[in-house]
Amino acid sequence: MNSSDTLAARLAPAPDTRPPLHVPYAPPSQADLTEALDFVRQHHREHLDQPVSLHTRLREVQRQIGETGTYRHTADELTFGARVAWRNSSRCIGRLYWNSLQVLDRREATTPEEVHEHLISHLRRGTNGGRIRPTISIFAPDTPDRPGPRVWNDQLIRYAGYRQPDGSVVGDAAYTDFTDMVQRMGWNGPGGPFDVLPLVIATHDTKPQLFGLPTDAVLEVPLRHPDHAWFAELGLRWHALPAISNMRLRIGGIDYPLAPFNGWYMGTEIGARNLVDEDRYNLLPLIATRLGLDTSDETTLWRDRSLVELNVAVLHSFTEAEVRISDHHTESRRFLTHLEKEERAGRTVPADWTWIVPPVSGGITPVFHRYYDEADQRPNFYLDDDARARGRGRCPYGHGGPADDV
Ligand code: ARG
Repeated sequence: MNSSDTLAARLAPAPDTRPPLHVPYAPPSQADLTEALDFVRQHHREHLDQPVSLHTRLREVQRQIGETGTYRHTADELTFGARVAWRNSSRCIGRLYWNSLQVLDRREATTPEEVHEHLISHLRRGTNGGRIRPTISIFAPDTPDRPGPRVWNDQLIRYAGYRQPDGSVVGDAAYTDFTDMVQRMGWNGPGGPFDVLPLVIATHDTKPQLFGLPTDAVLEVPLRHPDHAWFAELGLRWHALPAISNMRLRIGGIDYPLAPFNGWYMGTEIGARNLVDEDRYNLLPLIATRLGLDTSDETTLWRDRSLVELNVAVLHSFTEAEVRISDHHTESRRFLTHLEKEERAGRTVPADWTWIVPPVSGGITPVFHRYYDEADQRPNFYLDDDARARGRGRCPYGHGGPADDV
């Protein structure tokens, strides 16, 4: 007799056929009390005009953590926390405007559809027709009851990379694994060099689902060069909005796993990295050939000369298209202004030299010629290994992807 025919088996609860949790659930840690109280103190120190006294708020947070294992940030704390997390981002050169970050409170969104809708509205509001506004959307935190939603993409807008039979790649070579994964999930990319990838959204009780981005929510800039007409024929383009979606925002002991944020581009990110790195678009050899440079000899500096022209094209095209962008000289000077302002306010600015110095002409920007404080300060953004793995299409949660090897 089959065991499922026994009375006991029939009375037993049905086997749990729900899919496994689709977000890491360890379970989410209790909010850290010390970090919570430190944050509340910091908030009151920097914003003296609070509706309740520091003492009252400290007692309230302590009570909530004691009773529920977590606490809820006020709208004001959320805004302050997100802005300070940006202020503390040691790799970011663009922090001068940290205090004007637009904060969209999306903590109430629960379904993937709602999350998707808010992400699209983030793209539109952040892009703002080209007058880009630094913006963050903050979704539900991890709590002892349930983890918050996740997006598997590392940025809201990225281009697919399609592996070809001969081993070459069409598109962004950094996204071949991610592209393979979304194709296995049912996405049918057109196969071009600049196809915007769909979003993969997961909540604690839903499988990861694909959502496309409406074309009118994704502003792109076709690239051309002010002096070389042939440049436009290369058909290069880039998206206007860099919107990082895989970093955990930690404020006062609370983790917000989905808190996508955007600024505007500094030209070198596109012109010296995305289009240039050998494991991305690797375009220098092509541009050098079109410029008629001798690529057989390093001493012609064909790489450097092509690099400069590509960066000229990026800045020129964005500016002509009236899409906000900045050059690395201006952004470096702004960063030094930021340092001075912060020091005047009695704060130290954590900074990572290896990220702050631009990838082009480092030594002729002022940020090159000094050392920085490197201490981790909170609130901040963190990149977790599991988020990094998902961004590479190596999620351990099914869909037949290769085992997570990071
Ligand atoms: N470097 C990344 C990219 O090219 C974006 C990082 C954030 N950059 C910014 N300007 N906010 O897509």
